[in-house]
Amino acid sequence: MKTVFTFAVGAVALAALAATTAAHAQSGPIKVGLMLPSSGTYAALGDMIEKGFKLHVQEQGGKLGGREIQYFTVDDESDPSKATDNANKLIKRDNVDVLIGTVHSGVAVGMAKAAKESGTLLIIPNAGADAITGPLCAKNIFRSSFSNWQPGYATGVVAAGKGYKTAMTITWNYGAGADTVKGFREAFEKGGGKVTKDLNLPFPNVEFQALLTQIAAEKPDVVYAFFAGGGAVKFVKDWAAAGLKNSVPLMGSGFLTDGTLAAQGAAAQGLITALHYGDEINTPRNNDFRNKFAVAYKANPDVYAMQGYDAAQMLAAGLNAVKGDMSKKDALYAAIAKAKIDSPRGPFTLSKAHNPVQDFYVREVRGEYNVVTGIAVKALADPARGCKM
Ligand code: BEZ
Repeated sequence: MKTVFTFAVGAVALAALAATTAAHAQSGPIKVGLMLPSSGTYAALGDMIEKGFKLHVQEQGGKLGGREIQYFTVDDESDPSKATDNANKLIKRDNVDVLIGTVHSGVAVGMAKAAKESGTLLIIPNAGADAITGPLCAKNIFRSSFSNWQPGYATGVVAAGKGYKTAMTITWNYGAGADTVKGFREAFEKGGGKVTKDLNLPFPNVEFQALLTQIAAEKPDVVYAFFAGGGAVKFVKDWAAAGLKNSVPLMGSGFLTDGTLAAQGAAAQGLITALHYGDEINTPRNNDFRNKFAVAYKANPDVYAMQGYDAAQMLAAGLNAVKGDMSKKDALYAAIAKAKIDSPRGPFTLSKAHNPVQDFYVREVRGEYNVVTGIAVKALADPARGCKM
């Protein structure tokens, strides 16, 4: 009898302890794991995403859903071979509640697999890997940016609209390059053009000369390029130095000229790109964001900063709905999935695959700005091929 009594008291005490621990876990800070590049060709992009994310958290007084935010960081080096280990440092070692990252599509695929396996919330503030909102889509994975197909498709619409009939493409030989070229080809060929050749080089190689020589020899009506960060700076300068600026029209998804203009200088002037953001979207929402960013960091924001800011807005939408209780996973995910995000790019909602449905702008480089000159495609949704949720 005594043994039964002792056991019963022990069980009650254990249950009470578990409840207290759970309550405590839901009242301390929310642990946010930032997995971004802080070295290599995408380092500046990672820095802007982090700044944008933290700006929104600061605007909310340092708390989301009533809870303090505590940051854990890992430099992912834009290296897919280290993605699983790096994600698990945050998930298993630091025990983060949410993962934010990353820039590079190959690394993001590794993060998505780790997030799916562990059931950790993942919000992607850049990497557009089509697969993540395709066959790898999941209820705990969201994106505040784009799928690679989207800016490729939007640029293809603009190029076809200009009457170009032949195009060559040039990009790094990894998932993002292949995805975005697919989007460009789809729209360009639907609009009556033909992609005659795809050129590529390994990521993050910047020895463009041999490929530029091929372009000069073949003289297509237009070239579609996907490069970003340090690689985009070098490509645009090499393009001009090779004398192509005055002979072959160059277009790209807007990553070619975003966050890069100070370094590209005269070589970038006049370039036309398509993207879901531009420097001169003259709305109160965007002006407020840009002013606050400039005050906080003494710099102008770019598309990456905006996507980081919106990743924090998406997390806030979920956390506010569950009053900071991350154990209410279904309610948390449902709130993010149906949120209307008041983004500096313009308001957006998420598709069923959790990817922004958004307008794509035509932009032209003027001075140090990507000036919006029109709309390429309104409310463009990613096709989310293969996503079953
Ligand atoms: C990507 O890897 O998905 C990516 C990287 C930089 C800019 C845009 C997309």
